[in-house]
Amino acid sequence: MKQQRAKFGSKLGVILASAGSAVGLGNVWRFPYEAGNNGGAAFIIIYLISVVLIGMPIIISEFMIGRRSKSNTAGAYKKLAPHTPWKWVGRLGVLTGFLILCYYVVVAGWTLEYVYQSLIDSFHGQDKDFFVNQFATFSQSIFRPILWLVLFMLLTHFIIVRGVEKGIEESSKIMMPLLFILIIVLVGFSVSLPGAQAGIDFLIKPDWGKVTPKVILSAVGQAFFSLSIGMGCLCTYASYFSKETKLGRTAISVGLIDTFIAILAGFLIFPAAFSVGIAPGAGPSLVFVTLPNVFEHAFGGVPVLAYLFSLLFYILLAMAALTSTISIHEVITAYIHEEFHYGRKQAARIVTTTCIVVGTFCSLSLGPWQQYTLFDLDLFSLFDFVTAKILLPVGGVLISIFAGWYLDKKGIFLEEISTGGAIRPWLYKFLIISLRYIAPIAIFLVFLNQFGIF
Ligand code: PHE
Repeated sequence: MKQQRAKFGSKLGVILASAGSAVGLGNVWRFPYEAGNNGGAAFIIIYLISVVLIGMPIIISEFMIGRRSKSNTAGAYKKLAPHTPWKWVGRLGVLTGFLILCYYVVVAGWTLEYVYQSLIDSFHGQDKDFFVNQFATFSQSIFRPILWLVLFMLLTHFIIVRGVEKGIEESSKIMMPLLFILIIVLVGFSVSLPGAQAGIDFLIKPDWGKVTPKVILSAVGQAFFSLSIGMGCLCTYASYFSKETKLGRTAISVGLIDTFIAILAGFLIFPAAFSVGIAPGAGPSLVFVTLPNVFEHAFGGVPVLAYLFSLLFYILLAMAALTSTISIHEVITAYIHEEFHYGRKQAARIVTTTCIVVGTFCSLSLGPWQQYTLFDLDLFSLFDFVTAKILLPVGGVLISIFAGWYLDKKGIFLEEISTGGAIRPWLYKFLIISLRYIAPIAIFLVFLNQFGIF
């Protein structure tokens, strides 16, 4: 007997689960350090342009492909384009997801360490140097980061085996709104720290002289990473949408929520960093050293507040990471479950175990295995570079070409996007122009340029 395919239960659930996938460490951890490394405001503007011109149309495309095919991402292309090489786009997405999950869960694990440290109140009364050292010692050590990443994978596993509606949807409904409120409150404190203005300027005054092809590729890559596009994640989620779900509106909600939280995270991190003299280009440690400092400074006089804010913030960051790790896990689990006919639980177990092993390598590559590098990058940074700056943009180009050129416009494209009703002509035109020309050509040029070909 064929089992009925899982589905999200409500409209709000659809939006929050998709936004839950999009909002994560990409917004709060990766966005600030990429912006910091790439000169601030100009990077952010290019990022915003990429979200609107390239990101939104690709979200909609993934939604169309997923809902139409009701299939995991590799199966989706097989169904919509049988006997063609398009299935490799889906398979590439699964591989990309796997690589992302393996290093993402390392950072997700770090958030648990910070929950723990907040809980035992070890940040109380400490200064900037303490936080810098504490992060370096912790992230380069052997056992603790591995322990946390294993725990994080198990949490992810637990939700995945509970299924789509009870696991993914319910958890997102609680966590997302809480995160949102807390960040807003914290931004209020951050921008009122002494010396915060320099951080605000860094975010809003672009220095166009600093824009290079590397900066553009970084901004495009960040937009893909943050929106969870280019690897079939939203495609997989959309396979659980009902036929009434409005794809355009859902895409806009997801894009807005994700972008808003990234910008808020910028206003949380940079004023705080500038206020205590931490360099904006500090890299992956940025969030983990600036924030404990904010808590101490902003509430130093009232220790209990510092304690509560720190604890709550890291719990929510961990949750935001969790709603993202489950979305990546789901891509791979659904693929193994549907394409290789393993039971869902067994498929999930395969994914969890493999990611724990490779994730462990990523974690060790920041500490004892630091000397093993490829192209000057340790394994962790290599996975980050290859996925965000190569595989996601390549996946994005292929998806946009598939939706813009290959998909039957009258049948599938229009039917899906209009949910059986009508669509505004300008919107249709914009989508087609972006998918056919803007997205592929822009990404292609940036690539050629970045890798020195043009
Ligand atoms: N968008 C997620 C974040 O910002 C990460 C992610 C990337 C999730 C790709 C799914 C797919 O944290």
